[in-house]
Amino acid sequence: MSRTRTQVGIVGAGPAGLTLAHLLQLEGIETYILEDRSREYVEARIRAGVIEQAIVDLLVEAGAGARLQHEGLVHHGIELQFAGERHRIPLSDLAGGRAIVIYGQTELVKDLIRLRLESGLPLHFEVSGVSVHELETERPLIRYRHEGRDEELECDVIAGCDGFHGICRPSIPAGVLSEFSRGYPFGWLGILAEVAPSNDELVYAHHERGFALSSLRSPELSRLYIQCRPDEDLAEWPDDRIWVELQTRLGLEGRTLAEGPILEKGVTGMRSYVCEPMRYGRLFLAGDAAHIVPPTGAKGLNLALHDVRVLADALATWHRSEDASGLDAYSDTCMRRVWRAEHFSWWMTQMLHRPEDGDPFDLKLQLSQLRYVTTSRAAATSLAENYVGLDMV
Ligand code: APR
Ligand code: PHB
Repeated sequence: MSRTRTQVGIVGAGPAGLTLAHLLQLEGIETYILEDRSREYVEARIRAGVIEQAIVDLLVEAGAGARLQHEGLVHHGIELQFAGERHRIPLSDLAGGRAIVIYGQTELVKDLIRLRLESGLPLHFEVSGVSVHELETERPLIRYRHEGRDEELECDVIAGCDGFHGICRPSIPAGVLSEFSRGYPFGWLGILAEVAPSNDELVYAHHERGFALSSLRSPELSRLYIQCRPDEDLAEWPDDRIWVELQTRLGLEGRTLAEGPILEKGVTGMRSYVCEPMRYGRLFLAGDAAHIVPPTGAKGLNLALHDVRVLADALATWHRSEDASGLDAYSDTCMRRVWRAEHFSWWMTQMLHRPEDGDPFDLKLQLSQLRYVTTSRAAATSLAENYVGLDMV
């Protein structure tokens, strides 16, 4: 077995791991990134696409936002559709001028991988058998196999950026973490279609047949979702059936949705999950490894990048001056934003989705909430400031 030393060993090359490595590089801190999938797989995975202004600014300032700035689509509002009408929420007017940028997470991951490879710094794909050890000591270790060899990476700190199904969180001894979760009895069937988006802005639609969302990736690519069962069988959803359902839920009198070839389709379940604290000894969790939100609030990617910003700052301070106060506060600092996003995502989800049993009482409450949010400036402001991202202290 060969042994290598680094300062921060990063497990996972998703947006959290890649951004953390980039921010630490700017601080002169050495990192190693280990990813169990192939580069092709990671770059093909279709994920969310809404980025908060503050995260765009972070990426641009860090020199990782050139293509995002050029190709990202700035949106100043979203629409809520219910009871056969659309209502605009003017996000920027209500939230101090802030906007969101539409740019696929997949594209961001491609940009970050390219930057990392250009820098010549270590990023290993297709590693196997990753495990973390000695977390309570000052020399935590990562063991893995790469290109037929067993490797050991000795670190000052390990960053667990390996997503919800990764190995870092389960390596923390039982009884250390408190876990909080909520399941939902539905999922989203999502498609990427080669057709110009029919709407200028995102449309979140409440409909008696279930929720639907009209989003986009570019002026030529639409991204559309419909509420389905969490275990929905895609084989039962030929393209025609998907379009009929989308037309029913998103169409309005005089407006039909433009249809085009479906390039990709998939079903994702929905859950809310948080573990506390996001640290055990010298292991720090970030992003989906520590928390999951349902996609209705478009917060998953943003939360992951807020985490790594806090972690990179804390590690830089510790590296410069041996001051560990930022690291000690890491979990509490992140948790304030995490729980705000958990609440917002849960709230959007329960306001917009058809309950499993279609309970008429729930339906009346949903419609009342939607009417309130679209007619009261105070209620709309609350939605807007959460959607574009709050300043947290
Ligand atoms: N060893 C190495 N890498 C691993 C392992 C492992 N044992 N297990 C998982 N990984 C990798 C995954 O293949 C993935 O590339 O860790 C990475 C985790 O990335 P993401 O799941 O994208 O999580 P994160 O970087 O926290 O980004 C959060 O992703 O799922 C979306 O909605 C979520 O937008 C949010 C974002
Ligand atoms: C997306 O474009 O993929 C998207 C947009 C908004 C959401 C979730 C997903 O709330």
